[in-house]
Parts: sequence; C-alpha cells; structure tokens
Amino acid sequence: MAEVKVELKERSYKIYIQPGFLNNLSGFMDSFNFSRRLLLVTNPTVLGLYGEKVIKSLEAGGFEVVVGNVPDGEAYKALSTAEKLYDLAFSRELDRRSPVIALGGGVIGDLAGFVASTYLRGVPFIQVPTTLLAQVDSSVGGKVAVNHPAGKNIIGAFYQPVAVFTDPETLLTLDPREIRAGLAEVIKCGVIADAGFFNWLEDNLERVLGVEAAATEYLVEKSCCIKAEVVQADETEQGQRAILNFGHTVGHAIEALTEYRAYRHGEAVAIGMVMAARLAVDLGMLKNSEVARIEKLLSRAGLPVTFPANLDRERIIALLRRDKKVISGSLTFVLPTAVGSVEIIKDVKERDIARAINL
Ligand SMILES: NC(=O)c1ccc[n+]([C@@H]2O[C@H](COP(=O)([O-])OP(=O)(O)OC[C@H]3O[C@@H](n4cnc5c(N)ncnc54)[C@H](O)[C@@H]3O)[C@@H](O)[C@H]2O)c1
Repeated sequence: MAEVKVELKERSYKIYIQPGFLNNLSGFMDSFNFSRRLLLVTNPTVLGLYGEKVIKSLEAGGFEVVVGNVPDGEAYKALSTAEKLYDLAFSRELDRRSPVIALGGGVIGDLAGFVASTYLRGVPFIQVPTTLLAQVDSSVGGKVAVNHPAGKNIIGAFYQPVAVFTDPETLLTLDPREIRAGLAEVIKCGVIADAGFFNWLEDNLERVLGVEAAATEYLVEKSCCIKAEVVQADETEQGQRAILNFGHTVGHAIEALTEYRAYRHGEAVAIGMVMAARLAVDLGMLKNSEVARIEKLLSRAGLPVTFPANLDRERIIALLRRDKKVISGSLTFVLPTAVGSVEIIKDVKERDIARAINL
C-alpha cells in the first residue's frame, strides 16, 4: 500500500492508495474514535457499482450505514442537496463523532465535504474518491464547496478530511473520457513541479491510458505527493498554492462560456495550459520546444489543445477582466518557465493574452 502524508499540523492526514481497498475500509476506520453510525454520501451510478462492497465492508466493522444517495451530476452540488443531507443526518441522529464518507467523484467529494464541514459545526470527513480527477486532485487539499447561481464553488470552506482511502481499481469502470479529463490535472502536476514525473508520463502514457494497475497506482501517488507539498506550504491559498491553477484561468473562462456543457473541466484546463504556455513563450519566459512537449503530451492523452473555433475570443478577455475586478485587481497568470517549474505573474497585459489565444 502506498501512503502519502499531508502535513498540516493538527489537521494532518494520510492518503492511503491500494487496489482492492474498498473491501477493507472498516479495518482502517478502527484507528479513529468514530460513532458507529455514519453517513455515506454517493450517487446511483457509484452506488450501483461499489455500494454493496463498501456497505458490506463497513457493516463488517460494526458500522451502521446511512446512505445519502444524491442524483448524479454537477447540478446537484448545491445547497438544496446539502440541506436534504442535513435532514437525513438529523433524522437518523448522527452525532459529532459520526463520520461523513464521500464515495464518488469530485462532485460527491465537494458536496459531502461541505456537509461534513457544516453539520453540527463540523464532523469527521473521509474521502473515498472513485474518479481519476478525484483521486489525484479534488480529494486532496481540503477545498469543499457547493455551487450557487452566481458561480461554481463559491459557497465553501477549507476543511481537511481525516483520511483519504483510494482504490485505483475503481478507475477500471470509469468512462475513458473521464480518465483523459483527470489526466489533464496529472500532466499539470508534472509541468508545475516535477520534470521527472513529466518524463515518466511521456514514457508511460499508453500504460496509463490503459489503466494498467502499477502505472495507475504510481501516477495517483505521485500526483497526490505533488499536490500535498503545495498545499502544505500554503493551505488556504494566500500565495504559492495558486500554482495549482496553472491552465485554469483560461480553462474556467472556456467552461463558463460554453455553459459547462461542451468540455469536461480537465479538457478546458488542457486548452488553458497550452494557452498559458504560449503566453509564456511570448513573454520570453519559456522555450518553444517546451510548449511543443506540453502540447504533444496533452494531445497524446486525447485532450483538446486548440482554442474552440466557435468561441468569441473577445468574450474570454471580457470574462477575465470581470474576474480581475472581483479577485485582485490585476490579471494574474501561472506561467511555466520550463517543464517542471512555474511562476505566478501579476499584471499580465490584456494584449499579450489576446495574442496568445489568437495564435
Ligand atoms: N475540491 C477541489 O479541490 C476540486 C478540484 C478539482 C475539481 N473539483 C470539483 O470536482 C468536480 C468534478 O469531479 P469529477 O470530474 O470527478 O466528476 P463527477 O464527480 O461528476 O464524476 C464524473 C462521472 O463519473 C461517474 N463515476 C464516478 N466514479 C465512477 C467509477 N469508478 N466508475 C464509473 N463511473 C464513475 C460519476 O457518477 C459521474 O457521472 C467538479 O464539481 C469540480 O468543481 C474540486
């Protein structure tokens, strides 16, 4: 079993990564002083695939499992769904030591984490991520949230789990498009912090796309290590944690302008990473050959790397300008200086961005 420790003083926790983990969850829960009744938040898709296995394993450990079965989809990552989960938790008298377990992708993880962070002012939270994106990204770092009509993820908190139990075997049932979308965040980890890992991805991409066991386990562990290091240094994103947003500035704008329908998050981020890398070349920070490497790996992973032809580039700039007003008053970009390192650049000029996205 691989273990990654996230060192955050009294909020430290471990990410345990092991194929077949879902059969043995309760064995790992014994080390915590939990109440025997718990809330398992999941959706019908994941419940159908893994519910029986997980519930059996928890019951074998003496837990009584209350299932919060939320409809599948981003639309249900909402306060109204959280409220239904609170109602369920109160009706079954869950107490302050009753853990909330998130079994699913990033939607379930963010929603269940938000409920755990607020129910009775906070109860223990465990992530059991089942998508690649959730295993390498959303289950690590403690950002929990629900969406609001005013924007995605804008009602939320920093709330660390007490543990993350990752079973890479769950990826075998995942739609290949979801694997590719998760890979965008994995490739991002290589670009922002670890050239060796990027090289490994270049050499092993076919194994990864085939969800080969050893390669998948290594990739999940490595990505978690990279994210954990960044989060440890800046838990609540006062500065350096922003490097995790590489590719996300333009990526978010593409997602918003296509109304979150045309692209999976990772796909939009892939385009955003290429645009940011081109901007870095324009600004004299990065060699052309490095952009070519990033673009090639993303393409090989089946991810889009060109700006959507039918999308008005002016609207992207307008959206970035609006975010700038809301956030910090300046257009900030995370730009690579080489594969394996990035810098946070403030006051990027609109005309430079326009040039990069018009290429
Ligand atoms: N908290 C963070 O730091 C963070 C970071 C990145 C993204 N996010 C959030 O994550 C969400 C996206 O997460 P996602 O990409 O995992 O999407 P998702 O949770 O919607 O899952 C994608 C689809 O895969 C299905 N699924 C899940 N596991 C499966 C499995 N093992 N086999 C078959 N199907 C399975 C789901 O039911 C769903 O239909 C967004 O809401 C985003 O805002 C959060």
